[in-house]
Amino acid sequence: MPTYIVLLGPPGAGKGTQAKILSTELGIPQVSTGDLFRAMKTQDTPFARKVQEIMASGALVPDDVTIQMVKERLHQIDCDGGAILDGFPRTTAQAEALGKMLAEEFNSSIAVVPLLTLDENDVVRRISGRRQCPECKTIYNVDPSDTEATCPKDGEKLELREDDKPGVVQQRYSVYLENTAPLVDYYRNKGLLAEFDAKQTVEKVTGDLLSAIRSRIAAG
Ligand code: AP5
Repeated sequence: MPTYIVLLGPPGAGKGTQAKILSTELGIPQVSTGDLFRAMKTQDTPFARKVQEIMASGALVPDDVTIQMVKERLHQIDCDGGAILDGFPRTTAQAEALGKMLAEEFNSSIAVVPLLTLDENDVVRRISGRRQCPECKTIYNVDPSDTEATCPKDGEKLELREDDKPGVVQQRYSVYLENTAPLVDYYRNKGLLAEFDAKQTVEKVTGDLLSAIRSRIAAG
């Protein structure tokens, strides 16, 4: 039986950071809709350009294309054992489509929905310090005023994500409150939600997540 885990939480809560670690620990891939959309940056099509425009503004990509993209990704062979969904679902329509898709096409369901909680001030502080190496893709957290920081692994100048610029971060947080926060109750009512304080260290959050996920899986 494949294991599907949905990571919920505001921008900057650490979903991507934790999804990568959980993927290694649990042996199932991270499926990040944000990463899949960012990968379209290299495609020179009107649709790919539109997606980059939407992301840069902090808005959400339309549900139909997002759902179709996730469906295709989950049908790939490396997802046979399940997936850690990072950034999907983000709307009630996406959550309903995911439940239906897992039941009808994978004869399965979501095992657990960990919610990483972080307040707005911490969201803005963390995101303004997030930088990525364009070469090895490692994500770092630096002093926001340090515009010259380089990657300790390969010396490349670290980059700020287009949608991490001031103003867009607040917009993304508002979009989260309006569209995604209702999923907290949606999954709580299904008995799938487990809450974690994302303000703790990365290691502590990982430890808490792993023990909760493993006990949910063991309980079937
Ligand atoms: P996406 O890439 O999913 O962005 P997000 O949800 O806003 O999340 P982030 O990547 O900003 O944060 P995160 O929680 O992964 O935190 P991270 O681990 O990096 O989506 C981007 C855009 O794509 C959306 O705005 C939308 O346009 C589009 N999109 C994506 N999915 C969509 C969907 N389903 N429907 C429609 N549109 C969609 O950590 C953040 C920083 O904090 C890092 O610097 C990290 O090093 C640091 N950090 C992490 N954990 C800790 C810790 N415990 N202590 C201290 N620092 C920490």
